[in-house]
Amino acid sequence: MKILVTGGAGYIGSHTIKKLGRQGHELLTIDNLSTGHRGAVLFGDFKKGDIRDPVFLRRVFSSFRPQALVHFAASVIVPESVENPLLYWDNNISAMITLLRAAVEHQVKMAVFSSSAAVYGEPEKIPVTEDHPRRPANPYGMTKLVGEGILADCDLAHGLKSVCLRYFNASGVDPEGELVEDREVETHLIPLVLKAAIAAREKKHRAKGRGHSGGKELLIFGNDYPTPDGTCVRDYIHVNDLAQAHILALEWLSREKRSGVFNVGNGRGYSVRQVIEVSRRVTGLPIPSRDVPRRPGDPAELVASSEKIRKVLGWKPEIPELEKIISSSWNYFSKQVAGSRKQVAGNQ
Ligand SMILES: NC(=O)c1ccc[n+]([C@@H]2O[C@H](COP(=O)([O-])OP(=O)(O)OC[C@H]3O[C@@H](n4cnc5c(N)ncnc54)[C@H](O)[C@@H]3O)[C@@H](O)[C@H]2O)c1
Repeated sequence: MKILVTGGAGYIGSHTIKKLGRQGHELLTIDNLSTGHRGAVLFGDFKKGDIRDPVFLRRVFSSFRPQALVHFAASVIVPESVENPLLYWDNNISAMITLLRAAVEHQVKMAVFSSSAAVYGEPEKIPVTEDHPRRPANPYGMTKLVGEGILADCDLAHGLKSVCLRYFNASGVDPEGELVEDREVETHLIPLVLKAAIAAREKKHRAKGRGHSGGKELLIFGNDYPTPDGTCVRDYIHVNDLAQAHILALEWLSREKRSGVFNVGNGRGYSVRQVIEVSRRVTGLPIPSRDVPRRPGDPAELVASSEKIRKVLGWKPEIPELEKIISSSWNYFSKQVAGSRKQVAGNQ
């Protein structure tokens, strides 16, 4: 299949491209590289450009003539969306309208959209099923909900069938070590925990002989949530299992020719303290942490019901264990640090 992928140089996009490429699909990634990495696109062609640019899009659609669209490109940092909502409405909604206009003009009939568990806001019951009320708690979540609505309208008006995948907490890194999880602004728990482990290790090395140990602390926002240990509970899903959901979604769209919305999560929640504990086991490092007050807008618990995607798309996670998810990240992050040390040594 000829597939146009927006945001394919990003974290989830690049992992999905690797799977799609291995299946032999003809791929074109478009990405403005605002947060993505050109080197992470391992298969297909690449064009640098912005999906808010209709002239760029027209050129891309008319030369590539895709049969399907996989739309990852977006601004993705929740606190930033609260501070700068117009940026989010622009990059997630205006951009999506420009993109879908081009897709409709060029008779694209299938789309897979990166939606989010953020559409649910504070859940009323756990696990969250797809028909749970959608009450996003921030502008980022609102843009994802509106994106789903635009696609539903495009189905009715233009026959553009879509699958909206509501990802829970994407995590882990390519177990084959070819891809990256590298963000300038890090807000995801597992990378933050592993970076705190590395900082602790570095500080210990530097302080050797002076009796110091420990490193930058990991901040735990809120220890008084109604959860077993008082910290927030989330559903961590390996990025390769997320990638597989896109493959199955495209197959389903080709076969069924109808639209659908699916959660993508493991259906199992882990608290912040559990993530830190498992990370301590995986890294063998202390990982200092400090409890600080809650942040506004963090739901206590967010765990997916994955029944629908398992039943309808036949999806099944291959790496559901938190320990394996964290190990795949540690494999990447620990090498990164070793690599940067080598670079410093080389520069001297
Ligand atoms: N990471 C998660 O846990 C998570 C959870 C739920 C949903 N999502 C959604 O998944 C998608 C991918 O997220 P990610 O974590 O891989 O983020 P990411 O920042 O790594 O990837 C986004 C990619 O889109 C590109 N991009 C952004 N704006 C663009 C524009 N205007 N034109 C062209 N390219 C543009 C970036 O350069 C980047 O390569 C996003 O839509 C995000 O909202 C992510």
